Amino acid sequence: MTQTLPSLNLASRMSRLGTETAFEVLARAKQLESEGRDIVHLEIGEPDFDTPANIVEAGRQALAEGWTHYGPAAGLPDAREAVAHYVATTRGTSVNGNEVCIVPGGKPVMFYALLALAEAGDEVIFPDPGFPIYESMIRFAGAKAVGCPIRESNGFALDPQDVISRLTEKTKLVILNSPANPTGGVTGRTQLEEVLAALRNRPDVWILSDEIYSRLLYDGAEHVSPLSDPSIRDRVILLDGFSKTWAMTGWRIGFGVMRQDLCEAITKLMINSNSCTASFTQRAAIEALQGDQSDVEKMHAKFDKRRKHIVGLLNEIPGFSCHLPKGAFYVMPNIRELGMTAKELQDRLLLEAGVAALAGTAFGAEGEGYLRFSYATDIPTIEKGLGRVREFVEAL
Ligand SMILES: Cc1ncc(COP(=O)(O)O)c(C=O)c1O
Repeated sequence: MTQTLPSLNLASRMSRLGTETAFEVLARAKQLESEGRDIVHLEIGEPDFDTPANIVEAGRQALAEGWTHYGPAAGLPDAREAVAHYVATTRGTSVNGNEVCIVPGGKPVMFYALLALAEAGDEVIFPDPGFPIYESMIRFAGAKAVGCPIRESNGFALDPQDVISRLTEKTKLVILNSPANPTGGVTGRTQLEEVLAALRNRPDVWILSDEIYSRLLYDGAEHVSPLSDPSIRDRVILLDGFSKTWAMTGWRIGFGVMRQDLCEAITKLMINSNSCTASFTQRAAIEALQGDQSDVEKMHAKFDKRRKHIVGLLNEIPGFSCHLPKGAFYVMPNIRELGMTAKELQDRLLLEAGVAALAGTAFGAEGEGYLRFSYATDIPTIEKGLGRVREFVEAL
């Protein structure tokens, strides 16, 4: 006998929470695979490489040494110091260990920063297309999400005027992301400086700078962080982590760098949610920062090769045109000529061609007319997937 469950009666805030379509498409692809279908995965935003051996060994050793207990909520002091040193070196500013909060991934920095700072009546500017969790969390926190278009015509770099024209007296926070997901776009120094100049006389506006792809830059592109600007540093929350650079997605560790009093507020959110980031993971992360970097360089070189290869293949597909991105491990071809919506093409590619890719609209309304492919997979897989896309399109 089946029993009807009583109504869930979720709290109303849950209706404001979005999701990450990549996980949904992955689940649908896995379902098709369990039914015997062969699916080529070009949707997943994580390195296909295993975590470098020296980092795995540091984690193994930490487990053997008993780093299996609760640690301080803001992170182990040695890990906070190691991050402070890394950020000081890479962003050219001095950073104190107590300005660092170690959390389980890059995502919690968004979650906590928005919960700590944004509320009803506030506006938060976010990149569209952009990482879907920005809009989701802005809305969850009760604030108004104000999309800032990221345009192909601008090489998918941020156009400062698009941010500046959206600033109002209600703006509480501006989210920046370079190198960017899903476009691979990189915001240059002059563009960033123009945005910062406009924010200099707005001491009430915070900047959340998502720099999780800061080490994945190509063709000599430079990474510039608002944290490097002393005039604005006290209003910057830097988000970075280990998932992408060191292929550590499953370890769940990232960090935020921000002024000490905000760091303490975020530590309170950690105490109320995670208690702390796993201690052995933090020991492994110290090795990631301080140990041999040759695997990071090898992964980077492979990503660069795949980037050029995938863009070449995409541009050979009728109706596709793809810009060569300078960062991250994503490409965002324009598919407007095909006369289909991005979602329709996403669904048909999965079901009819056996290729998992993401509609640009999974990253915001401005993503209409684009697909996102991840090249965090090997060249034979890229060739197989794009061969299928080409066959599918040619048969339309
Ligand atoms: C732009 C951006 N920020 C943050 C994250 C989250 O990283 P993590 O897996 O460390 O939480 C991702 C992951 O895809 C991302 O693309």
